Amino acid sequence: MSDNHLRLGVNIDHVATVRNARGGAYPDPLRAAKLAEEAGADGITAHLREDRRHISDADIDGLMEVLSVPLNFEMAATPEMQQIALRHKPHAVCIVPEKREERTTEGGLEVAREENKLAHYIAPLRKAGCRVSIFIAADQRQIEAAHRIGAEVIELHTGAYCDAHAEGRMDEAARELESLREMSAFAHSLGLEVHAGHGLTYDTVQPIAAFPEVRELNIGHFLIGESIFRGLTPAIAEMRRLMDEARA
Ligand code: PXP
Repeated sequence: MSDNHLRLGVNIDHVATVRNARGGAYPDPLRAAKLAEEAGADGITAHLREDRRHISDADIDGLMEVLSVPLNFEMAATPEMQQIALRHKPHAVCIVPEKREERTTEGGLEVAREENKLAHYIAPLRKAGCRVSIFIAADQRQIEAAHRIGAEVIELHTGAYCDAHAEGRMDEAARELESLREMSAFAHSLGLEVHAGHGLTYDTVQPIAAFPEVRELNIGHFLIGESIFRGLTPAIAEMRRLMDEARA
């Protein structure tokens, strides 16, 4: 694969959300993950939340067993999640902030204030061979702190840009995009691998995909929603096409 290839991680959490609405086994997130793989996803992302509101422990067991592409395991920095990650040793672990009352991951992780704690927290994960990624806002202080604690990857939170865009606040969307652009370059200059995600859609993906420093996008809610209308494979194919077009 060329050096310029932008990886697409497909987040399957919301297949589990639909399944859990009825408490049964359908639709199966593992089936969605395999289909996403066949449709060209470079990785699968799943967030095991403390309250297990979508992905379950059994889903993570299953994903580790059936996937041919890497699993990006999203989790909060808790002792329980660390144990689970150390048991499975997924390709990547993405540390995200988590609040019980939130509907989704609302902001980036506060790394700067928790530097020592996080450095100790991620050390065993790195030793176990997981690529540790930290989900943060486009904020120089947080990026510097992520670098100091020994993370190899940062994932920039694109939610503020996407929300402003969706609500027609275009000046704000442009400002958010500019911060993301500057901070991608800054993080790259420190030697960090840069990923991005949250809230991305067909309308918002291309400016982010065009940043040369960004190596991976993680996209979930929109793709699962869009698959209702056009099916998962075509929904992913169109995202892939837009990413490639932006990259060219
Ligand atoms: N990246 C991270 C770190 C996330 O927490 C999420 C949401 O779970 C995503 C990407 C995907 O966001 P969305 O579902 O809005 O595409």
